[in-house]
Amino acid sequence: MKLIVDFMDNRINGFVEVPKNFYNVQSILDIPPPKGENIKLLPKIFPKEMLREEMSKDKYVPIPEEVREEMMRYRPTPLVEAIRLKKHLHLPEDVRILYKREDVSPTGSHKLNTALMQAYINSKEGIERLTTETGAGQWGSALSYACNKFEVDCTVYMVRASFGQKPYRKVLMKLFGADVVSSPSSRTEYGREIIKKDPQTSGSLGIAISEAIEDALGSDNVRYSLGSVLNSVLMHQTVIGQELKEQLKRIEVVPDALVGCIGGGSNFAGFMLPFIEEKISQNDVLDIVAVEPKACPSITRGKYEYDYGDSAEMTPMLKMYTLGHDFVPPPIHAGGLRYHGKAPIVSLLANRGIMRTVAYEQKSIFDAGVTFAKTEGIVPAPESSHAIKAAIDMAIEAMRRREKKTIVMNLSGHGLFDLKGYEDYMDGSFNRA
Ligand SMILES: Cc1ncc(COP(=O)(O)O)c(C=O)c1O
Repeated sequence: MKLIVDFMDNRINGFVEVPKNFYNVQSILDIPPPKGENIKLLPKIFPKEMLREEMSKDKYVPIPEEVREEMMRYRPTPLVEAIRLKKHLHLPEDVRILYKREDVSPTGSHKLNTALMQAYINSKEGIERLTTETGAGQWGSALSYACNKFEVDCTVYMVRASFGQKPYRKVLMKLFGADVVSSPSSRTEYGREIIKKDPQTSGSLGIAISEAIEDALGSDNVRYSLGSVLNSVLMHQTVIGQELKEQLKRIEVVPDALVGCIGGGSNFAGFMLPFIEEKISQNDVLDIVAVEPKACPSITRGKYEYDYGDSAEMTPMLKMYTLGHDFVPPPIHAGGLRYHGKAPIVSLLANRGIMRTVAYEQKSIFDAGVTFAKTEGIVPAPESSHAIKAAIDMAIEAMRRREKKTIVMNLSGHGLFDLKGYEDYMDGSFNRA
């Protein structure tokens, strides 16, 4: 049976429910625990429920009804077949690219899935303000929106490179009531130290995290919120993969490959973790592919070892692929992928060979993003264009080898606030790396 899977197709999109539980991969995998002196600071950094989820071995963790109701404003997100892209690439009938649209959330990316849950948990525990970092601005926007919903104040340390590149992300965060600060800033001791050492620094996620944690540690009723990396954050994102599994079942499609971009690893993990158990137990051939920038190649060039999650060594040490916590990546437009490490869950799966990782240069990413925008009509976030580039390459390779292949990718966000990157690409004032 030939099925055209398109945005308006209710056969897959209308009848899938928003999951009632998060899926916890820790029920089947032993993730190396954090270590080091700073573990004692955790109860001052995170709310109790996040710390409980961090260690939980329960297979399913219920999604609170208030959070699920907020998710229902944009979930289930559509699963779409890239028919126009397929035509443009001259792919044969049996080479297919499908994508899961996390760009349809109110702030434009998957980040809202965990932001809602984290703002809710903190408000229930009586926390009055959350601090956080943001690279591309997607996470900061999502947390600002969620904090507004659950009545918690929000301070966002935005990496200096993005603060300049994405002025309207700033406006969006402020519109939802957040206080937005360019990082490194003079608000924190660590920020002042960095500015003194290198006044021209473009900043990094590692530096912004240190500033946000320092700020949170300064008051009793303030906590820090992280948009990726943590086991709990990856678990919140599994609403994506659970919906996808159900959507694929409804159209009787068995994917050959799942593809997603990785910054800290949360959208990719949320998308593929619900498929992992079968892959491991049935020794399945499902190809799970993470895509990172060549400018910040944490898995393809990094080491698998214990390292700090931030530049100032305030977090516990995590077992992860890392380029070193003092690594400052070049200011590429995919700001959300400029992180020195990867989530312990993703790192473990990469180390065990359950997934693989590829890396691309910025120029090739924008070529793919522009092709996608022109064919599918969605301007992708530069982060998401990493997944698009890999999916296109895999589809072309399958066509060359005359193989049948269904590739499903996660479109983690839209790029309507990333137009400066597209402008630089078009006028050639662009760093290829
Ligand atoms: C649209 C988008 N995709 C992907 C990422 C990367 O983060 P993660 O690997 O946690 O999904 C970001 C981070 O800011 C983002 O904004």
